[in-house]
Formats: sequence, C-alpha cells, structure tokens
Amino acid sequence: MLLGTQRVNERNHLEIGGCDAVELAAEFGTPLYVVDEALIRQNCLAYKQAFQREYGDSAVAYAGKAFIVRAVCALMAKLDMWLDVASAGELYTALKGNFPPQRMLFHGNYKTQQELQMAVDHGVGYVVVDSFVELDQLSATAQAAGRVQPILIRCNPGVDPHTHRLISTGKEDSKFGFNIKDGSAMAAVKRALELPGVDLQGIHCHIGSQLLDLTPYTEAAPVMTSFLKQIRDETGVELPVLDMGGGLGIRYLEEHHPPTIDELAKSLSAALLDGIAKAGLTKPRLFVEPGRSIVGEAGTTLYTVGPVKEVSIPEPPGKRVYVSVDGGLSDNPRPALYDALYSALVANKAGDEPKFDYTVSGRHCETDMLIPHIKLPRVETGDILAVQSTGAYNYSMASNYNRFTRPAVVFVYDGKADLVVRRETLDDLLKCDLLPDRLA
Ligand SMILES: Cc1ncc(COP(=O)(O)O)c(C=O)c1O
Repeated sequence: MLLGTQRVNERNHLEIGGCDAVELAAEFGTPLYVVDEALIRQNCLAYKQAFQREYGDSAVAYAGKAFIVRAVCALMAKLDMWLDVASAGELYTALKGNFPPQRMLFHGNYKTQQELQMAVDHGVGYVVVDSFVELDQLSATAQAAGRVQPILIRCNPGVDPHTHRLISTGKEDSKFGFNIKDGSAMAAVKRALELPGVDLQGIHCHIGSQLLDLTPYTEAAPVMTSFLKQIRDETGVELPVLDMGGGLGIRYLEEHHPPTIDELAKSLSAALLDGIAKAGLTKPRLFVEPGRSIVGEAGTTLYTVGPVKEVSIPEPPGKRVYVSVDGGLSDNPRPALYDALYSALVANKAGDEPKFDYTVSGRHCETDMLIPHIKLPRVETGDILAVQSTGAYNYSMASNYNRFTRPAVVFVYDGKADLVVRRETLDDLLKCDLLPDRLA
C-alpha cells in the first residue's frame, strides 16, 4: 500500500514528498516522524470543498489533538481552516504557530479555570461547554473580563459508533457532554440562554473516532436537527451553528476501506438537510472537526532495524521472527492502547516482494509489539522500516517511557525536507528534574 505522495523510486527506496526515506533517516536519524505536507493540504481542501458543495455554509476545524505542533498550526492558518484545541498546551502551541484565536474551538470535559481564562482573554471563537460547572465558571470568568464568550453546548446524541470503546464518545454512557435524551442538554441550553457573559451560538456532538461506516453520522444527524427544533419550540431561539465533530476513519491496512471525504460530506449533509427541512429550521452554519482523516495517512515513522531474532513458539508450534526497531511504545502507544494494526514497508527495499512473516517489536521494557504479523521482504539489521499511517495520535501521544527521547518531526514537500520538531536530547529529559539539597 502506498499513501499520498509515497512511491518507490529508481533506487528501490520509499520516497515521500519527493524525498528519499533512506536519506531522510540518514540525515535526521531514527526514529523519525515524516509528514507528507501535500497530503495534509489535499485533505483540508477536499473537506472544505466537499462540505461547501454538499451542505453550503460550513467550516472545517482541524482537531489538533491528532497532531499539534507549531508548523501544523501555521499550515492550518494558511489553509484558512478552523482549529480545535483541548488544553492550555494546545492553545498555546496554536498561538505560537500564528493561528488566529477567533478561528479556534476550545474543547474538553474538564477545562481548568486557567484554561477558561486563557480562552476568554485570547478571544477564542467558541468554547464548547461540557458541564454545568463549566457553564457557570465561564460566565463568571467572561463577565469579570468584561467580555461575552460565544459558546456551543456539547451534546450527547446517544449513538453507538461501533469503534474501539476508548474512542467511542457519543454513547449515552459517556463522560462527555450533556445527554439529549434525559433532558440535560435542554437544561444546559436554557441555563446558557439566561446566563450573562456567554452567548449561546449552537450545539455540538462528536460520536467517536476511526469510524469506517457512515451510519453513526446519519443516525446522529436527525437527533441533532430534532434537538435544534426542540430548542426553537421551547425557547423561541434558532441557533445559528451546528457542529458534528470529527471521526472519519483512515487506512491503516490495505484491507481498510474507509468512506472518502466526499462520501462523508454527501451522506452527512443529506441527512442534516433533510432534518433541517422537516423541522422548518433556518439552515445553521455547519462545522466538522476532522483530525485523524486530515493527518493520519500523511505520517510515516522511520525506524532502524536492530536485532532480528527467530524464536521457537509452542502455540501454534513453529517459529516467529522478531524484528526489533529503535522505537516502540513511546513513539506509538496505539497498538498497546487500542490493539491498533499498522502496515509497513522496508524503505531501502521498498519494491521487493513481501514474502516473509515477521513480528515487529519496539525496544521498551515490555512486550511492545508494534505489528504482531506482517509480510515483508527479507529484513536485516540496519534496514529502515517505514510504518505507515502514523500521522494521527502518535507524536501527540508520545511519551518519554524508559527515558527515551521523543523523535524529530520532518515535513516533506516537493522534494524539500524541513525539520519542524527537533529530536529531544538527553538534557531535555532532565530539564524539569530538581534535586533536593539533602540528595545532592
Ligand atoms: C471533540 C472532538 N472533535 C474532533 C475530534 C477528532 O476526531 P478524529 O481524529 O477521529 O477525526 C475528537 C477526537 O477525539 C474530539 O474529541
């Protein structure tokens, strides 16, 4: 499987964004996150055009949690995107990436007082309110600052997204948002309409992530449009914004066939427009918040292969060949968290036939399998392994487990490679450590 601008070049090497992956590994070291900028640009454009065409008045907010560094924020700003942030750190990164706060949405089920203050002080576009406590806190914060903060209310439409339980967020039993069915969402809307300091502009939902089927969207759409109607009927207010969140899945394996961005835009828009027409509502401005489907397939992690070890296994009786790479759980926790599966190529033998069975493991102090079963060309120590579709929830979830330094990130575009995050140093690992006098 080749994604985005990936191709096999005349040297039989994997090329991404016009750059030879083996040369990237030599120049920047491994593990290395390589980001295909052209594919990110293409995905952003595809989202904007598809929703404009299918729905009309709409905006696309990139969900920063998938992968947020200053260069990503600067790119999103250039592409006229909106941006979701979900913490003080993401907001700060975005500000330092020259992203205009007026085009940001601030998310989270527990925003601290410091975060609410930051959002208000910087004039964030919308705060997406998640609880009654937050609603009161935000109202007080905005009033004290002499501002009126535009808000959306996060609603829980009670839809099962049929995805991994840890990334399923829109079911009734969820820590996120206000339940529509039990009346909490309506109570939140009414309270928001009464409170000073906040300006209720709309409602929001996000049902889950890595969705490989559009049904959950078309189930959530009528729930949300009916709720808009109920709000109008009970309060006389027609809210001008409807945010349907993110969630579209990507290809991790050749056999994954996620719906395209166009298919998502068609189905979701049709379901919403139908609900809006039936309810006799004025069409609200639609927001969507894709994260994974913008950056996921654009990321490739390059590793250097270390030991290749054949072991005898009892169940089923036979042999397993472990390929150890110079990263693992710390740069990609998704296999451990979600049993996520990945595909890979040997970057320096990219066109060779994959005919041998391997298990790819990291080098942490646990069984950090990156890929339990994969067919590859013959793998030898020193080869460069390119694990694909690592653009989302990899760098952003990376840790320093075992005191590993976090890898560098390189943007590749039109044959040029730009370092956008330098590799951490051993000194970086110590920069927050302090030694009390009695231990010094
Ligand atoms: C509120 C919200 N919006 C958008 C997203 C992005 O989801 P995805 O990366 O699946 O598109 C998330 C992910 O958790 C989310 O919580």
